[in-house]
Amino acid sequence: SWTTGNVIDEQVAAIQAQVGTKRAICGLSGGVDSAVAAALVQKAIGSQLTCVYVDHGLMRQGETEQVEKDFVAATGVQLKVVDAQERFLAALAGVSDPEEKRKIIGREFIRVFEQAQAEIVAEAPGDQPVEFLVQGTLYPDVVESGGGSGTANIKSHHNVGGLPEDLEFQLIEPLRKLFKDEVRMVGQELGLPDEIVQRQPFPGPGLGIRIVGEVTKDRLDLLREADAIAREELTAAGLDREIWQCPVVLLADVRSVGVQGDGRTYGHPIVLRPVSSEDAMTADWSRLPYDVLARISTRITNEVADVNRVVLDITSKPPGTIEWE
Ligand code: XMP
Repeated sequence: SWTTGNVIDEQVAAIQAQVGTKRAICGLSGGVDSAVAAALVQKAIGSQLTCVYVDHGLMRQGETEQVEKDFVAATGVQLKVVDAQERFLAALAGVSDPEEKRKIIGREFIRVFEQAQAEIVAEAPGDQPVEFLVQGTLYPDVVESGGGSGTANIKSHHNVGGLPEDLEFQLIEPLRKLFKDEVRMVGQELGLPDEIVQRQPFPGPGLGIRIVGEVTKDRLDLLREADAIAREELTAAGLDREIWQCPVVLLADVRSVGVQGDGRTYGHPIVLRPVSSEDAMTADWSRLPYDVLARISTRITNEVADVNRVVLDITSKPPGTIEWE
């Protein structure tokens, strides 16, 4: 029968058999899945694991600091932080198509991991080779990327359909059969703190798939501000556990007319996409209190330059996916 204890024992044994005395790296995204995958692999192979956090510049405010602080404090894992902001921005320049963005981000992640692999080997030359890459892929990621049986490709999750063909790593994906609530239980059993295990989902490609249009540094900065305001107000209203997640999306290719002060503005809309869900396979739009929505709207239009309109997405999944891209 299914218990978190069984899942952990089984996976630990399988990982030990797969890796032997070699080494592995694990990409940390700041999210629940990669954190639980890393903790599970660390339990299996200890210091043969190095975690790699790729700062691709598509993160939300405070994300990088949180990984550096919370996750390392909870696990004591070896962490390598790679600043890859310019590399990702350059690769994404001129690209607006969502699937193309996802593939580029997936590919660049792998290139950065390969570079990290070389550096880890160079830092400890006599040691065993780094042959494995750990990913926190979940069952829904596999299904929706078209990896399950008889399913269409809905989107290429960056760590499934977005992998390059010439991948040099062997993959370890210990959560591949699990749903999010099960992953949270496994994380809890492994001793990870609530701040990590109960976090709302955030996609690996980050804000890169929350800008409808080309991804640029200025747009990322603007979206980061709007997102931070929405998160702050939702947290202050005590709604974090009630909401599955609330993507904040910048419609960079859309402009709308507004009036602020004495003048006409011609800015961009921000979309709020709060949803409730059990496993992200289906979702319903969250009926948030009007006063909370009002505060978010007022603050975003007052505080974020170039945004003159806030709209609420009231679409279920299906027919809409949770993310806009
Ligand atoms: P969608 O938009 O497909 O999202 O309804 C379902 C859940 O998956 C997250 N998501 C991703 N997570 N890499 C991830 O790690 C991805 O490429 C990706 N795309 C979507 C999304 O935030 C939601 O929780």
